[in-house]
Amino acid sequence: MSRFAVILPAAGSSSRFGMRQKKPFVDLKGRAVWIRSLEPFATRDDVVQSLVVVAAEDIEDFKDRFKADLPFLDVELVVGGATRADSVANGLAAVRDDVEFVAVHDAARPLVAEAWIDEVFAAATKYGAAIPAVRISSTLKREDADGTVQETVSRDGLWAAQTPQVFRRDVLMEAYAARGDVESTDEAQLVERIGHPVRLVEGAPMNIKITNQADLDMARLLLRAVPQDDLLDRLHPFSEVDPKSIRDVGLDFDSLVD
Ligand code: CTP
Ligand code: MG
Repeated sequence: MSRFAVILPAAGSSSRFGMRQKKPFVDLKGRAVWIRSLEPFATRDDVVQSLVVVAAEDIEDFKDRFKADLPFLDVELVVGGATRADSVANGLAAVRDDVEFVAVHDAARPLVAEAWIDEVFAAATKYGAAIPAVRISSTLKREDADGTVQETVSRDGLWAAQTPQVFRRDVLMEAYAARGDVESTDEAQLVERIGHPVRLVEGAPMNIKITNQADLDMARLLLRAVPQDDLLDRLHPFSEVDPKSIRDVGLDFDSLVD
């Protein structure tokens, strides 16, 4: 069995979230968002190290507020950096030498499900680098300076990247060593730059990242009807379950509106 570490970057400023509390630390149906994001990794036998990256200014509060959860989840804390990539680099520097693969998962993606992690881990084991992503289904427009449409952009072959993004440890180390001052919003971008192929794995639209209040409301609605794993497994693109049967477990969107 390959050994994986998981890095959970939670050191952002949540500037688009619009609440005093930062989004990884808000409550989502009785548990903090970051705990929901980490738990499906931390409970796996192949994950041997869990690193949560927290901003220096939040470390003391974090330790205090989550002191009951930290030993249970066997978490190591790492101090964050100015950008997401800096935070991940700090996490990477703390990954143990006996780890073969590193998974990076946004602390703000609390709906991740076990079955999806299985698939990305399997693809990373096979190809050395794998990310979940969903095909773009909307028609894409580029705006000009005054907010009118400049052109329609072809969506052919376009995907929206998600996390967990999973890499052989040596590949990710090489990508970070070569990053210089390139601005990247995900790890795969840095791995692409060193010429290592990154395998796409069909992700799930439900694996949302909480960016603003509306995303948090959406996450609450999705979690309300049924236990997380049951719902998410049923909605998975490769699920054996007929999607229509989701109604059987009570996910009736009309009734979910407050
Ligand atoms: N992140 C981080 N360190 C940073 C910036 C971001 O660890 N310096 C983390 C965030 O905490 C989040 C994830 O990276 O879990 C994805 O980033 P994003 O959604 O952009 O979160 P924020 O940067 O916090 O939000 P915003 O961009 O609205 O300020
Ligand atoms: Mg950000």
